[in-house]
Order: sequence, then structure tokens, then C-alpha cells
Amino acid sequence: MTAGPSPADPPPVGASPPRRRSQLGLGAWAYDRGEFVSAQAPRLPLSTQGLHYGTAVFEGIRAYRSHDGLHLFRAHEHYARMLRACRMLRITGIPATVGELVDITVELLRMNAHDGDVYVRPLAHKLSLLPGTPPGVSLAGVSDALSITTFGYPTAGDVQEVRCALSAWRRPPRDTLPAQAKIAGGYVTSALACDEARAAGYDDAILLDRSGNVAEATTANVFAVRDGVLVTPPDTGDLLPGITRDTVITLCREAGMTVLERPLSPADLYTAEEVFLTSTGKEVASVVALSGRDIGSGTAGPVAARVAALYRTAVTAQDAQEPAGGESRPEWLTPVLPSEYLGARPAHVPPTPPEFPLPTEHLRQAKGHADDAA
Ligand SMILES: Cc1ncc(COP(=O)(O)O)c(C=O)c1O
Repeated sequence: MTAGPSPADPPPVGASPPRRRSQLGLGAWAYDRGEFVSAQAPRLPLSTQGLHYGTAVFEGIRAYRSHDGLHLFRAHEHYARMLRACRMLRITGIPATVGELVDITVELLRMNAHDGDVYVRPLAHKLSLLPGTPPGVSLAGVSDALSITTFGYPTAGDVQEVRCALSAWRRPPRDTLPAQAKIAGGYVTSALACDEARAAGYDDAILLDRSGNVAEATTANVFAVRDGVLVTPPDTGDLLPGITRDTVITLCREAGMTVLERPLSPADLYTAEEVFLTSTGKEVASVVALSGRDIGSGTAGPVAARVAALYRTAVTAQDAQEPAGGESRPEWLTPVLPSEYLGARPAHVPPTPPEFPLPTEHLRQAKGHADDAA
């Protein structure tokens, strides 16, 4: 193993002039099968099982920049959900603990030194048939791989307004596709529904379950405001129990709002005062029209605006001023880098990927596993 600085070391202040990075786009470095590599470098075999059969699970995690630096938001909950989904797909050959996965992500974010808010995309997938495994669809007897990429992803600021279609596609029931896991193959339904909606001029789609109740949007959970009360379908239904959904329920209840988890019909949405979506990517987005009918006043309503303000306070490590209110939630935040290092390439990270040492034992183990499986 070559000696050298760990990418986890904070860059020495003033050691080299900071180089500004674009706010948008793929980070220069990625984590792939146990190593940090150029994000352009990874090449998967054409036989990659996850590609053929959708046997992959992924997450979407945000890191937010505030005056206190860059923080991952609820990364532990995201990786815990991913590891549960991995168990479902017998993906065992990747770093096994939430703490290890968070550590790797922090290191990668330090190396990429994005200028602003970041979106992190971990992907764990089935890779290659192990000797003795017959060809075909299988989970056991197939090696596993994990990659993590990061993208500059500035947040919009204001509450987004979206126009949705009620989709002809139904959310698959949980006895057909495990709804509680972000399984790549299951996103074909979301892609079909989103494509159908966009082709008809909408921004997104809301899908019903087999019994005709509201399940969720293509990549977000649904809330309605009825008689001043927030209502969202129960997480035992055919939907992904979103971490943003949980965050919003927690924050709203703490702020004294009533939140009910009960089935919602399409008519409940059409006649609601407000409807909004929640997800890591969308944060809190107001649904101002559904299949051509205005919801409420046809513009983002006051409840969605209040919920968005509470959410913003929780993700950005600083208490809000009145009237928005709300407190920061340090227990949901993982510090990545203090402000003074953001936007500057750490002095020890060269522009092309070197053979630099694997920083921790779990990375070495992960690499060993990937090599065995190749
Ligand atoms: C199908 C689906 N439902 C709900 C969500 C919201 O989940 P979270 O709030 O954890 O991002 C997502 C997120 O991408 C999703 O893909």
C-alpha cells in the first residue's frame, strides 16, 4: 500500500488556491466496488445482472450547504433503508453497516468538494454469476457491487408548483413488488407513468393502488390538506414510506398540526384545499392541478409553504426566524466539510485518479470481494 494523505484529511487551509467548481453536474470522483475512481472510469460488464433484470437497489440522499458547511440529511436512515432492500435482493457483498456507508459517502463528498447542495446516488446491484450458478435470473450465486456518485444539485428555494395527471398505470401491490424498497426494476412503472404524464403536458403523475386509492407519485409521497388537517396514505399501503414523508409528519406534528395516515381517494384529492408531494429530490412540491382540474386556488397554498419552511429549517442546520419558525435537527445531520473548504479542490487530490491508498479496512474488504467476483 502506498503511503499518502487520506482523502478524509481536511485540506490544509491556504495550501493551494481554491479552484471553483460548477454547481451542477457529476462530481469528479465516484466510489465503485471498493475504490475511489474517476467518475468517468467505471465500466461494468455487459452481462451485469442488475442491468438485465433490474436486480439493483438505490437511494437518493441530499447534502445541504448552510453557513455551517455541508451536511448530509438523514443519511443513516437512507442507508438503513438501502441495506434492508439489499437483504431482500440477497446483496451481501458490499460494506455491511450504515456507519461504513456514511463514512464512504463523507469521504467522497470531501473529494468532490461541490460548490453547493449535492445529491448522492448509491446503487447496489447484482453483478456476475459465480462459478457453478446456472445462467438466468437469480439472486443467490451472483456477486454484488456498490457504486456511489454525487451530483451538484442546487435547491430551488421557493415551493415548486407541479401539475399532475392521475395515471392509467397502477402502483404494483406489495405482494408483487416490495414497495418499501427502492428496487431499480420497480421504477419501470414510475417511468411509464411519468412518460405518459409528460407526453400529455403534465409535470408528473399520481398512481393509484389496485383498490383505487391514492398510492404515491412516480418518485414522491402524496399529502392532502382537508379541513385544515394533513392526510397521507398509510405506510402499510403500496408505497415507499419516504424519509421526507416521515420528516414532514414529524415536523408538522411538532408544530401542532394534525396529520392523519388514512386512505385517500382520487375525489379526496380533487376536493382538497391543497395537495403536495414530498421526496428527497422534490422536497415539498405543491400540486396545483390534477388531470386538468385546479386544486384549491390553483397556486401553491399556505400549508405547503409552511411545511416547506419547516423542512428547509430542518435540513440546513440553522434555526429559522419567525414567522416560519422551526428548529434545526442536528440528529438528522452528518457534517461533511466546514464552509471554508467548500468549492476548493483539496490540495492533495490530483486532477486524475491516482492509485491512492484505500483509507479504511472496510474499503479493502469490499475491494477484495469485488475482485473475487470479477
Ligand atoms: C416511488 C417513491 N416514493 C416515494 C419517494 C420519497 O422517498 P424519500 O422521501 O425517502 O426520498 C421516492 C423517492 O425517490 C420514490 O421513488
